[in-house]
Amino acid sequence: MKGSIIPACIVVVSLGAFSQAAPPVGGWIITSSPDFPGFTRVVVTQNAGTWIGKATTTWYGDMEMQDVRRDGDRLVFKLSNGNAAVPRTDIVLQKSGKGIRLTGKLWYQAFDITGQPATARQLKARDFPVYPLPAKRTVPQQNVAATPPMGWSSWNKFATQIDDKSIREIADALVASGLRDAGYVYVNIDDGWQGKRDRAGRLQPNANFPDMKALADYLHARGLKLGIYTSPGPKSCAGYEGSYGHVEQDARTFAEWGVDYIKYDLCSGEAFYQTADAVYGTYQQMGEALTAAGRPVVYSLCEYGRFDVGSWGRAVGGHLWRTTGDIEDNYQTMSAIGFGRNGKPKYAGPNGWNDPDMLEVGNGGMSTEEYRSHLSLWALLAAPLILGNDVRTMPADTLALLTNREIIAIDQDRAGVQGVLAQKNGDVEIWTKRLSEGAVAVGVFNRSSSERTVPVVWGDIDLSGVIKVRDLWAHSDGEGGAKRDVVVPGHGVVLLKVWR
Ligand code: GLA
Repeated sequence: MKGSIIPACIVVVSLGAFSQAAPPVGGWIITSSPDFPGFTRVVVTQNAGTWIGKATTTWYGDMEMQDVRRDGDRLVFKLSNGNAAVPRTDIVLQKSGKGIRLTGKLWYQAFDITGQPATARQLKARDFPVYPLPAKRTVPQQNVAATPPMGWSSWNKFATQIDDKSIREIADALVASGLRDAGYVYVNIDDGWQGKRDRAGRLQPNANFPDMKALADYLHARGLKLGIYTSPGPKSCAGYEGSYGHVEQDARTFAEWGVDYIKYDLCSGEAFYQTADAVYGTYQQMGEALTAAGRPVVYSLCEYGRFDVGSWGRAVGGHLWRTTGDIEDNYQTMSAIGFGRNGKPKYAGPNGWNDPDMLEVGNGGMSTEEYRSHLSLWALLAAPLILGNDVRTMPADTLALLTNREIIAIDQDRAGVQGVLAQKNGDVEIWTKRLSEGAVAVGVFNRSSSERTVPVVWGDIDLSGVIKVRDLWAHSDGEGGAKRDVVVPGHGVVLLKVWR
């Protein structure tokens, strides 16, 4: 009733002033976005002083505006892609001419872009589809990873600078160097091979990979296997086409090409699948699709260890699951992952492995001692051994590290037990791994930068009664006894196999 006593002219003036100063309401199409996150549309409604809106992107689909507040004629809000490690920062929406201006930052990408008013039809044309996930089920595991997978992957050395020719050269080098015969049989093409979909929705490789089936044939003819990479989201981590909305079709395509190993990397899917159930569901969906496609395939889950993946990785048909974010070619990152983010040992065993990420051995960022620690630790952890260096040009000492059969045998031991920390004394850590036939691998690591002499007292690490000791890097045998003093270089390791 209060309103009725306000003179009409004042109401008009005040409404006009208010509407001029108000933040924009409506729908706009964006034509000038950076590729990441690929803004296509912004829609805002207002109701009783509450502002609700969403920004649509090619990477993450519809993103609800969060923590929306009015600041004069601007709306300030935040966007989240579902990755808790990405800081949510203020994004500002304001009028600009007949359209809008959107400024801010999402993850690493700053933007200052404009949008133009759009018809309902134009807005509708930018709808982003949402697909249901299957009802929760267990996917039977294929028996293709009785021991941790071994091979090579393009990512650590080449990132997206890859093509058919270099992959064939890598394959030839794996054979010629003896790496294949040492067990490294998977040749995994990581991110960067994807092209666009054809009219039937079938994913095509990009121009660098003219014929995937021919490439698979080339590898198979040499006793090697082909691995490929995709994402449950619309975009892979490097911005290539993902499997979103095409999961079953892509699994069939990979089977037709002759693919033997799939790495399924969450990437932009993290915006769509944010809960434990949803992440399970999306990995289950690909697991079922791979089974239905009918070709034996190793299934590698890459969701950075979220939601205790080791506890359910096998249940979606997975054979290995990343336990961490990405490795880097330096001792600090490698050791932080290897000693501390390697997954729970109880989940590891035949056909299911904690994956602390691919090897960096030979990429130049670590010393030989550090690379020896890297390999020894991965072997003790029963980790997949996926090489990440340029095996076409590696020096002899790198090849010698990678083909040390005694180290590989620790990793590949058929009992499939993941090693554990047995003793820690400052920078010195002793890790043990139970092997089949009663032997035990013992890694004595020195995480400091200067040499240490370490007395390894067998009784202190639950190994009394040692009768024989073999040094797996020195290739020398020794007697048992109550203890053994080992000299460990800075950032180095002494890896022993002991019998009782
Ligand atoms: C993520 C993965 C990496 C690699 C890249 C490719 O970062 O964790 O291993 O596959 O994507 O873009």
